[in-house]
Amino acid sequence: MANIHIPKTWEIPEREVTPETAFINRRRFLKSLAGAGLGIAGGSMLGCTSESESQIDPNLMQFESVDRNPAFAKVDRPITDEVLAAKYNNFYEFGGSKSIWEAAQALPTENWKVEVLGLVRNPRTYDLDDFKKKFPLEERVYRFRCVEAWAMVVPWLGFPMKRIIDDVEPTSEARYVRFISYYNRNITKGPGLSLSRLPWPYTEGLRTDEMANELAFFAIGIYGHELPKQHGAPIREVVPWKYGFKGAKSIVKIEFLNHQPKTFWNTLQPSEYGFEANVEPDVPHPRWSQATERMIGHGPSFMWDRRDTLLYNGYAEYVAHLYDR
Ligand code: MTE
Repeated sequence: MANIHIPKTWEIPEREVTPETAFINRRRFLKSLAGAGLGIAGGSMLGCTSESESQIDPNLMQFESVDRNPAFAKVDRPITDEVLAAKYNNFYEFGGSKSIWEAAQALPTENWKVEVLGLVRNPRTYDLDDFKKKFPLEERVYRFRCVEAWAMVVPWLGFPMKRIIDDVEPTSEARYVRFISYYNRNITKGPGLSLSRLPWPYTEGLRTDEMANELAFFAIGIYGHELPKQHGAPIREVVPWKYGFKGAKSIVKIEFLNHQPKTFWNTLQPSEYGFEANVEPDVPHPRWSQATERMIGHGPSFMWDRRDTLLYNGYAEYVAHLYDR
């Protein structure tokens, strides 16, 4: 991880889980299957882990009595093993490889505040307790598709973005929204000089009507417990019909605007990372066909389960009306 080279084309490099990690993960996974009565199919593997300890960090706070929204209870494929998802991440503030989970533990999440401002009637600054008290929490199982053509299925815990819209009341000029991730160049600088020259802080954006869509979600938890730092603690965006880079992690600011904001990857390479970035299997990325995807798994990536990619990542019934295709 020390000598990360970010290629000039600004590709997001694809790395494989190291054999050692894969081995440890495999042992834990097998153990978890045994605990679940080997019930991969049906409800048992889909069951929320909230009564059990997190497999990745027993200190993560468990959410008790948060119900899974029946409309998003399961998808056409099994939930990804928690340990695999937690050790195969993109979080460039902490390095350019997929193995940043240890480095990400430096993220300071105490007394977290999220400022919501710009073209709104009621600008607000929330802390995490505000979110938990003001907005009913729910769990949603969503497909997740990275533009690098790997995919997973994750049970997120949080609340629809619409709740914030209703609370702050954007004005009629507020056509776009920008999400800004935490950045402190002494902490989140990545391991190499090349990473420190990227256009920090990480920012992403949506149209306001996309943010108001029923699917758009703020996650404060995953697998029944609070978000581990590598997944973007304490709060991140989840927009499952778009490529994963649209989901900014560790959000500190949300700004309503009258113009399309500049965003991190789009600034680096607009021809590769469009602002809209919907999952469209018939629109190839210059370096990755988007027709199929691989579910992250054990062992080398060429052995992972390959699936056809679905238009809007399988969420066309919710979002197709938002776009002209
Ligand atoms: N958010 C921030 N702040 N920094 C990042 O590097 N990477 C994005 C997105 N959000 C990123 C980010 C990309 S490219 C992906 S695919 C997802 O986070 C990965 O989320 P995960 O690591 O929780 O699977």
